[in-house]
Amino acid sequence: MSWNEQQGSEDKNIQQELLKNGNLPKHIAMIMDGNGRWAVKQNLNRIAGHREGIETVRDIVKACSQLGIKYLTLYAFSIENWKRPTSEVGGLMRLLEFYLRRELKELNENKVKMFSIGKVSSLPKSVQKLLHRAIDTTKDNDGLTLTLALSYSGRWDIVRAVQMLSLDVRRGKISPEDINEEFFAGYLQTNPLPDPDFVIRTSGEMRLSNFLLWENAYSEFYITEKYWPEFRRNELYKALAEFQHRERRFGKTSEQITNKEIEDQNTYLKRILNAINMS
Ligand code: IPE
Ligand code: IPE
Ligand code: MG
Repeated sequence: MSWNEQQGSEDKNIQQELLKNGNLPKHIAMIMDGNGRWAVKQNLNRIAGHREGIETVRDIVKACSQLGIKYLTLYAFSIENWKRPTSEVGGLMRLLEFYLRRELKELNENKVKMFSIGKVSSLPKSVQKLLHRAIDTTKDNDGLTLTLALSYSGRWDIVRAVQMLSLDVRRGKISPEDINEEFFAGYLQTNPLPDPDFVIRTSGEMRLSNFLLWENAYSEFYITEKYWPEFRRNELYKALAEFQHRERRFGKTSEQITNKEIEDQNTYLKRILNAINMS
């Protein structure tokens, strides 16, 4: 059964409300934080928190796909995360393997296109193989593009881009005058993706942690106190309802923005929250 066929009517109603309002983000990027704290709160070990975090990933991917969101990028493992105890890193790699192995069929059947950013070569060979297989199997899909940021850091990608750009200058393929913002962005691993318009971070930390530094230049931010394992689709709906009423000015004045809201923000939020509470 496809994800759309599985959907309950109450959930469909909330999504319909959100879709009616329009203004949904095209690219949502998520900093999936708080698995460890969630686990400690339940007297479990940190790996159990990561395991529960995968259940959130499954639900959020499904919800985004059902809503017709075009791009979802998940920060799953940063370059800095290699500094964690080897037992935790090993556990995370095994879970990643488990996810890629178990989910590929369903993701493919639901037209999800897999993509990754980060220093993939530093991941265990088994994970690399599964990742390449997932990307290759789903390359012609036209549904949600699901990007996993693995062994990723924003500065790493920028430096990598500068190195490649410099090589092209040295080889005479381009000259320094050719370089502008768009041209530079073409060298980043994220170049097939539009910039995220919405960044969600769970567990309350007010920082970027080296995530999409270039690409997030004008993204809207949403930070929730919920831990990642608790951030299921209803929490996503609340975040989206808030996004829909943000005024994105890109440096202009409020008066210059033509796309004004139709419905009062409070009425709209109340209605969405009611629908969520009833579901
Ligand atoms: C996020 O949860 C997952 C990864 C960074 C891999 P954490 O493991 O960072 O959880 P906290 O922040 O310690 O609670
Ligand atoms: C950010 O979470 C990285 C990922 C979600 C993969 P961290 O838990 O590593 O971030 P810091 O260290 O608290 O900033
Ligand atoms: Mg953390």
